[in-house]
Amino acid sequence: MSELSVKHLLGIKYLNEKDIQLIFETADNFKEVINRSIKKVPSLRDITIANIFFENSTRTKLSFELAEKRLSADVINFSASQSSVKKGETLIDTVNNILSMKVDMVVMRHPNPGAGIFLSKHVDAAIINAGDGAHEHPTQALLDSYSIRERLGDVSGKKVVIVGDILHSRVALSNIFALKLQGAEVKVCGPRTLLPRYIESLGVGIETDLRKALNWCDVANMLRIQNERLDISYFPTTREYTQQFGVNKTLLNSLEKDIVIMHPGPINRGVEITSDVADSKQSIILDQVENGVAIRMAVMYLLASKIK
Ligand code: CP
Repeated sequence: MSELSVKHLLGIKYLNEKDIQLIFETADNFKEVINRSIKKVPSLRDITIANIFFENSTRTKLSFELAEKRLSADVINFSASQSSVKKGETLIDTVNNILSMKVDMVVMRHPNPGAGIFLSKHVDAAIINAGDGAHEHPTQALLDSYSIRERLGDVSGKKVVIVGDILHSRVALSNIFALKLQGAEVKVCGPRTLLPRYIESLGVGIETDLRKALNWCDVANMLRIQNERLDISYFPTTREYTQQFGVNKTLLNSLEKDIVIMHPGPINRGVEITSDVADSKQSIILDQVENGVAIRMAVMYLLASKIK
């Protein structure tokens, strides 16, 4: 029987191509399940999962919780803003207290890069990284590639441009790893100040002219500016950013071909993408959200089979 090469999902960096294909094939089955009238399966009965979020989230938190419930897991939710973290409790103490309640799996979002890796070295539970600072967001990248595969038939050979604040984006880094593993061509596009110096060493091209980037690609993944992680100004004004790096319907309609538009959310409408583009037929933004549940069901199901 096929199984993942890892015990935790800490980043796409730790996966291989076979892992990704196994997750997609498993997600295909779960996508069929969640479109039935009876959407629940007993696969994770007697498995307890803690969702611990030290940073805000809408999509990821709800998607994991729904996926856990569809798999019949027992679920506990922890939000740092309402917890004893506010009284000075450390990450290890917080998680060990949660684990002493016999928790098998922890889904964690944390502002510090590497928080999930640190945790996996200190606790017995399976750890899933739901976003660690500007480092990785592996389930987002998996659902993004899965959505490309669904719309275009395959990821291999496709040209994908990631547009925006690459420097502060965990979605960009995880997408680059996932897309390259599957044989896609990847470029990044944005102000030079928001493109990391090391980016070309990951096998990624740079294009600072948005029209050229969009005419090159099959898929454009539009990212928001991560204002919460900006310590200084990286571009003159939001208006100028939008003029140079925002996609609107006039630009989209003037391209040489129809491209697929993606966005991980949350969208800043009118900044990186206008409403008529976000809500257009070329946009698969809500497909990404729907696929997130099936992908997270697949990841948790496969990791649970490795719990002793
Ligand atoms: N895409 C994503 O991670 O969204 P949330 O921050 O709402 O979870």
